[in-house]
Amino acid sequence: MSEAAPDPTSAIPDGLRRFGALQPGPRAHVRDESARLAALRFERIRVTPVSPTIGAEIQGAQIAQLDDASFEELHRAWLEYKVIFLRDQECTADQQMAFARRFGALEVHPFLPANASHDEIIRFEKSEGVAGYENLWHSDVSWREVPSLGSVLRCIEAPPRGGDTLFVDMIAAYEGLPEAVRERLQGAVAVHDFMHSFGLALDEAQREEKRKEFPPARHPVVRTHPETGRKILYVNAVFTSHIEGMPREESDALLDFLYRQATVPEYQCRFHWEPGSVAFWDNRAVQHYASNDYWPDRRVMERVTVIGDRPA
Ligand code: SIN
Repeated sequence: MSEAAPDPTSAIPDGLRRFGALQPGPRAHVRDESARLAALRFERIRVTPVSPTIGAEIQGAQIAQLDDASFEELHRAWLEYKVIFLRDQECTADQQMAFARRFGALEVHPFLPANASHDEIIRFEKSEGVAGYENLWHSDVSWREVPSLGSVLRCIEAPPRGGDTLFVDMIAAYEGLPEAVRERLQGAVAVHDFMHSFGLALDEAQREEKRKEFPPARHPVVRTHPETGRKILYVNAVFTSHIEGMPREESDALLDFLYRQATVPEYQCRFHWEPGSVAFWDNRAVQHYASNDYWPDRRVMERVTVIGDRPA
């Protein structure tokens, strides 16, 4: 646990300290975490953080041609920064899949449209006729019993402006919760369901069919990262339906408060795409949001997702 810092709000006039908008956020966590990250050393790749606790640009690596030592460093950077970004990648769809497979087996998404040639590649192709709708904070497929480990997203066509993807550090979001809320969340289990998102696009028979395949999933509200041991706030506004064993109103109010943690800018970073850019996020530790500010321009992205582990 971090050393107590002198209260940096003590110089703020009393009236302003009580002003509701003055959210101190996880000062101690951000201070300690950015210092810890700044002390990390990499020999084979260059790692440039894009915010104090989340996101780093990696230079000196092509995901299509990574030797084992560089791969090991890139893996470490991914775990530490939770999302990594690489530019100017010379990479085909097959090479993107081969890179992702180094982390585990690939997922075939049961609802999202695949690239014509590979079931494991989701193609997001937006244009004047197809607006983006991924502008909601979410963690991918949390409605599965075994949600994804992470996704490798590659930009094929970028709009002339806009179209960034935002990521939020759900470890910082957890650390920033008031102590009393963290205590209340101990042992809490949330139910995640596809019905209020992908299910809305299905007819009754299709919904029943998919329901058999994907019953509501139960996950701890605070999960522990299996590789880093960090605690993560693991609920999201798109797929989480309720907290088990809590009256509905209380669960809605608590979830609403927890969802707002993902919208705190101090926990976020954003990435501006160019053709050939790649982002790889740890879906266990972050949520993401695709900014839908570029319509009617074209934006074409392809995503490969790695199957993860059961949240615990
Ligand atoms: C997604 O995986 O939700 C889409 C991300 C993006 O297109 O930026």
